[in-house]
Amino acid sequence: MTVDELILYLEAKAALDRRSLNPHVFEIFRAALAGAPEVEIIDLGTGTGAMLRHLALHLANPRLVLTGVEREAALAEAAVGLCRKALEEAGWRLILAEDGFEARRGGCWRKLRFVNADGLAFDPKAPCQAVCAHTFMDLVPLARTLAKVKGWLVPGGVFYATCNYDGGTALFPAYSDLDFEAELLARYDRSMELRRVGQEATGGALCGRRLHQALLTAGWEVLGFGSSDWNLTPVRGGYRDADAVVLEALLAMIRGEGEGLEERALEAWHQERLAQLRAGRLGLIVHQLDLVAVRP
Ligand SMILES: C[S@@+](CC[C@H](N)C(=O)[O-])C[C@H]1O[C@@H](n2cnc3c(N)ncnc32)[C@H](O)[C@@H]1O
Repeated sequence: MTVDELILYLEAKAALDRRSLNPHVFEIFRAALAGAPEVEIIDLGTGTGAMLRHLALHLANPRLVLTGVEREAALAEAAVGLCRKALEEAGWRLILAEDGFEARRGGCWRKLRFVNADGLAFDPKAPCQAVCAHTFMDLVPLARTLAKVKGWLVPGGVFYATCNYDGGTALFPAYSDLDFEAELLARYDRSMELRRVGQEATGGALCGRRLHQALLTAGWEVLGFGSSDWNLTPVRGGYRDADAVVLEALLAMIRGEGEGLEERALEAWHQERLAQLRAGRLGLIVHQLDLVAVRP
């Protein structure tokens, strides 16, 4: 994917993510921060800032300082404009700053900052009350990232990790060659399992359950967890939000992991799934987990 394609994909999945976040886990996260007049939160691997926007608009704390950390400069840049637009449209009055912007509405104030950095090398100037990581932990080594996050948090600070892939992609309707599709999906998962940062394994295709275990092993108190599956399913023959864009991208990603399978069979699979997408009949369910935990 080019950076422009990645921006389109991340924006298309933003509405899907909002629908998919586990409401009970979000409530536990919100309750952990409730009552504090000012809260500072870091969003690790912020991409185009979808989680920052969600927090700015849905947390009730009067004052929020939200920092997005993103390795790709073009994404960090896009995040500024997209977050500004979202808050402006929600009626916030903006004041631009060098590293982002401030926003005011009623008695509330938000500061959004964007840092172009590798999250595994980044260190904030001061500890914060919460760290978020949204569709991110499968890309990084879990134990090392948790140790880093722990160091950023004040005692009692919380980690809210959302939409962590947990090894389950199912397509509907059932494909005519079930074995072929099962093998293709196994290769798709394996590609995530083989991901390395340096020599280290990442959260991979079973990120959700591995992250849960890694939190327990490192002594975090898991306050709550639950599923946040993506339901990319047609409703009366049409798709919600920008789900069709996400589906097309996911089909391309799955096909891309089919190297070694018979090319004609792979192409036939892709064309049939695309035809079902265009006819509003394709469904895809992705199993994911949200977790919220308190620093040891
Ligand atoms: C799957 S995207 C998710 C983006 C965003 N959280 C969302 O869900 O819309 C993962 C993001 O993490 C960024 N990323 C990957 N490794 C990173 C690292 N070590 N430090 C900072 N950002 C990283 C990628 O550039 C990408 O934007």
